Amino acid sequence: MLRENYSLLSHNTFRMDVNCSYFFEYQTVDELCNFLASKLFVNNKSLNVGCGSNLLFRSDYDGIIMHSQIKGVQVEEMTANEAFLRAGAGEIWDDVVCFAVEHDLYGMENLSAIPGTVGASVVQNIGAYGVEVKDVVDAVETVEIATGRKVVFDADDCRFAYRNSVFKTAFANRYIVTSVRYRLRRSPCFNLAYGNISKVMEGRELNLRNLRDAIVEIRRAKLPDPAEYGNAGSFFMNPVVSESCLAEIQKEFPQVPFYALPDGNAKIPAAWLIEQCGWKDNPTEHVAVWQTQPLVMINRGGAKPSEIVDFSQRIISSVCEKFGIRISPEVIFV
Ligand code: EPU
Repeated sequence: MLRENYSLLSHNTFRMDVNCSYFFEYQTVDELCNFLASKLFVNNKSLNVGCGSNLLFRSDYDGIIMHSQIKGVQVEEMTANEAFLRAGAGEIWDDVVCFAVEHDLYGMENLSAIPGTVGASVVQNIGAYGVEVKDVVDAVETVEIATGRKVVFDADDCRFAYRNSVFKTAFANRYIVTSVRYRLRRSPCFNLAYGNISKVMEGRELNLRNLRDAIVEIRRAKLPDPAEYGNAGSFFMNPVVSESCLAEIQKEFPQVPFYALPDGNAKIPAAWLIEQCGWKDNPTEHVAVWQTQPLVMINRGGAKPSEIVDFSQRIISSVCEKFGIRISPEVIFV
């Protein structure tokens, strides 16, 4: 279905009131391929958008916003120990997690309640509570934009990294994800190492449903509900710094939290850096950082894109000035 001069207000969780010249929604791979061959597509710039939960529209989009409604979640194959689940790119990510939990399949539960679609989840390798989607991806089915050819990437070809994949780097804007095949375990295997999960699970029976419920609770308590305040989850990535840079910061801030990485570097929570720069007490009329998780910037209502961009730039500068670390947005600016 093609619409002209269409409002994107309900297609971006930051709730930016912008329009696109065209909005194209497709239900099948064939419908997508036909559109890719059309004159309208060839003559315009375009962007594929899932729930719009990890992007910031800076202005009206002078081109085509494409939106997958390719649906379907099913168990495709079972072995003694594993199950292969296939989901359409237009499925809501958390519905797939819910499906897996209901079918007693292990591996996705720590990624419960992350906003977004199946398609977007692999492009940015979503992660939370010690798990990244790369840990459960078996293959990613795509269509090559230039040719309409179907191309399957196995997990290694996707070059997954922290909030990154080949679809954001070498092959950015070259392929559209149409479905994802996941490899899940059929027997219990839990990841409770991150933060306070094991504490929250104390006194509860350790099973898939209870763990999913606990993750949902932790997220709800910490993160703003986009229905209440427009936001796009973590606005920044957690910076990775060298051992010597960390030592330098520790001299002045001995309490700096960090996760040591296997390569000797350390990841510092950007939330902490932002809090130290005083941003929790420094909202503007329309923009603020979230009190319990300052890595998230919120639209307090009526914020214009430029106000969000300005606010983020002021945060970046302040962190750079105080700590000598340049934090980068996780959110994609369009
Ligand atoms: N912190 C503060 N002040 C606060 C809150 C947190 O200083 O008010 C510091 C604390 O040191 C805390 C640390 O930040 O220990 C880490 O906080 P948290 O566990 O909430 O995780 P995060 O590193 O801030 C990452 C992901 C989240 C993911 C959580 C949980 C990124 C950019 N963000 O956040 O992902 O849910 O871990 O695994 O890696 C997202 O990508 O949109 C997202 C929400």
